[in-house]
Amino acid sequence: MNATMTEHDRLRWITVDKDLPTIDRGEDIIAGLRSTPKTLPPRYFYDDRGSQLFEQITDLPEYYPTRTEQAILDTYVSEIIELTGACEIVELGSGSSRKTHTLLTAYSQLDNPLHYYPIDVSAGILRTTALELLATYPQLNVCGVAGTYERALAKLPPRMVENRMLMFLGSTMGNMDARSCDLFLTQVQQALQPGEFFLLGVDLQKPIDVLEAAYNDVQGVTAAFNLNMLQHLNDRFDGNFNLDNFAHYAFFNPVASQIEMHLKSLTAQTVQLKALDLEISLQSGETIHTEISRKFHLPTLSDTLTTHALQPLKVWTDPQSWFGLILCQRQCLLAGDCP
Ligand code: AVJ
Repeated sequence: MNATMTEHDRLRWITVDKDLPTIDRGEDIIAGLRSTPKTLPPRYFYDDRGSQLFEQITDLPEYYPTRTEQAILDTYVSEIIELTGACEIVELGSGSSRKTHTLLTAYSQLDNPLHYYPIDVSAGILRTTALELLATYPQLNVCGVAGTYERALAKLPPRMVENRMLMFLGSTMGNMDARSCDLFLTQVQQALQPGEFFLLGVDLQKPIDVLEAAYNDVQGVTAAFNLNMLQHLNDRFDGNFNLDNFAHYAFFNPVASQIEMHLKSLTAQTVQLKALDLEISLQSGETIHTEISRKFHLPTLSDTLTTHALQPLKVWTDPQSWFGLILCQRQCLLAGDCP
């Protein structure tokens, strides 16, 4: 871990992820494309173009999650602040800055020193966001943490104030299958001290037509977002995926309660990623699984959180119960663990 002071005295910068070069060697891509069925990690959606497309998705009439979560936050932010009191904020996947603003504005009104730790794999996005926030909030200190969630959670900088809240919004946890989710929540629990807070935003179960429309918008932005992963791989690993030979395919799997996104091969074809020394063959109709987006059942999720010593204090939803915001408090694991 190396911390660098920058020209801005309220900005610190930490890189926790010495493993990032491993990701750049594409080992997860090779493994995913060689397995049956073929898969690719959703992380590869987010090159510059993919991040732009995701921003466009959040404005689509069919894509209800972002605006629903924002409305819940707008309505209940003062309750959140009342329950936590002053605390520093750690945010995983800090991309969605509008929601962050709502919380930072509220916490800055408490008149306490304000510390914000955005965590993201993209150092570029971190820097841009940090500079914007520093200009907006005169009493804000930012410590950007570049790295994967896993590494960042294990190596968070020491607290500057007594209490900490970890935020994970936007239902990004929906990208993790149940097993990864368990590991992740264990890491969250270990990153927090007893009494500290975890604010989690999750997408909920709802009528299937609403869910499927959100991932099959009429303008085709979600299709472009899905297909862009292949363009990203072409650019990054000297590949020759022909995007015209693939179709966006997204549906709700009711057994697993998740949206699944795939890229369907429209023809029998062979594709190379030269920089990875990889050649793969696809049959006509064969799919590459690019994402799961789980739709949670609040009582079940609350039990899971409780099992991980993250006790839900309060759950907020919108009038239709389409999206949930859960404030948890880290519990003691053993008698004597707590002050
Ligand atoms: C950012 C992972 C929450 O699963 O809804 C949007 C990504 N994929 N449309 C989601 C996404 C297709 C999004 N998450």
